[in-house]
Amino acid sequence: MEIRIFETEAGVDKAAADYVAARITEKKGFVLGLPTGGTPEGMYAKLVDKVNKGELSFKGITTFNLDEYAGYKGDEPQAYLRFMKEHLFDHVDIEEGAYNVPNMSGDTTEKEATYGYENKIAGKGGIDLMVLGMGGNGHIGFNEPGTPFGLGVHRVELTEKTRQDNSRFFASIDDVPTAAITMGIRSIMNCRSLIMIVKGSAKAKVLAQALSGPVTEDIPASVLQLHPQAIIFADKEAASCL
Ligand code: PGA
Repeated sequence: MEIRIFETEAGVDKAAADYVAARITEKKGFVLGLPTGGTPEGMYAKLVDKVNKGELSFKGITTFNLDEYAGYKGDEPQAYLRFMKEHLFDHVDIEEGAYNVPNMSGDTTEKEATYGYENKIAGKGGIDLMVLGMGGNGHIGFNEPGTPFGLGVHRVELTEKTRQDNSRFFASIDDVPTAAITMGIRSIMNCRSLIMIVKGSAKAKVLAQALSGPVTEDIPASVLQLHPQAIIFADKEAASCL
């Protein structure tokens, strides 16, 4: 595993955007996996800049997001599809239908939402590059500590802690959905390459445990130690315990 450390958050954003931009032009029909959250916002802004300057195009690229709240159509203020439109898809030349976010709303069954998503990824030949953030407890996607490493795309009941963490985006905790659809650790490990972006001192200790401690389901991000092509992009605060 390679670890790249940068002085500032802006340095991480630029390096991650440069890396993604270089990778997605490396072959026709590149398949990119994407996260939501505060962490990737700066990287998305820099990718949008590159497209505006004519340095980058998303034509021919397919994307798959990591997760979405169960029951969400995608236009709710807190929906991850809406986040992605606001931060990336509406501002770049990605083709209609080329971006995918899990969806279990309306009549969609759990099976369609999970196996269907898994099959769609497989139908595109798998994910070439997955971009990840990491939660303060080492979670990746909605894979909380204790999630079996063997799971593919699945429905997860959100823990009280995660609902509380996410309640800052909602009027009250009662409005936070109780379940989500997420790529599992197996789906993430099946990606041909991946990068994980980590910022801030609050994540320093868990990042050190994830990268240099034992590989354990208690710290989901620790599984990345077993991936043959994983790069960590961290600012110096997040890397301070390494
Ligand atoms: P954050 O979340 O980017 O908002 O810190 C990361 C995550 O929970 O995956």
